[in-house]
Amino acid sequence: SNLYLLLIPIAYLIGSISFAVVVSKCMRLPDPHSYGSGNPGATNVLRTGNKSAAVLTLLGDALKGFIAVTLARMILGDQSLTATFGSWVLCGVVIAVFLGHLFPIFHGFKGGKGVATACGILFGIHWILGLATLATWLIVAKATKYSSLAALAAAAFGPLYFVFVFGLQPMGIALLVVCLLLVWRHRGNIRNLMNGTESRIGANSSSKK
Ligand code: G3P
Repeated sequence: SNLYLLLIPIAYLIGSISFAVVVSKCMRLPDPHSYGSGNPGATNVLRTGNKSAAVLTLLGDALKGFIAVTLARMILGDQSLTATFGSWVLCGVVIAVFLGHLFPIFHGFKGGKGVATACGILFGIHWILGLATLATWLIVAKATKYSSLAALAAAAFGPLYFVFVFGLQPMGIALLVVCLLLVWRHRGNIRNLMNGTESRIGANSSSKK
């Protein structure tokens, strides 16, 4: 029924909860917009030196992607990954929860770059997809110590892994949209990577934007 379409704005609202902001408030840390890259995300929260705050931000932002997808799949039933109305609703849910993180209605539309949320989304679609993409992130992060470069690599491979496992489905398009939005949000990081000014994981300085 058309009522299923309500899942899309609900996903946007779930995505709009910025855990970088919420966790920082609860743990009496400065607002993540005010230091480092200015990005409300786990990588930037780590620049305060508070590892547990960064981990909680990562888990919270990932969990909202996972929960939005899992909730929608429970309500839509098991047809939600094949080419039916349900599968297109699920595509809408994926893009909406991601856009919520990027442009959160609860935080003046100033959101993050979507890495943790994309990871949670992938785990919600299939744990193998989540694990393969997370492993890609970890390998590049370990090798280069650049969180952003690891995210860009994982974003490039995520949709490919999906097509490998599930073939060409509507969800492949949604994941491509997520990937393109993620790369666009990292345009400042890409600039910094190219001119050698990107900060490495754990380093406490990064130029804004
Ligand atoms: O989580 C976003 C990451 O890829 C880059 O974050 O703060 O270094 O711009 P940041």
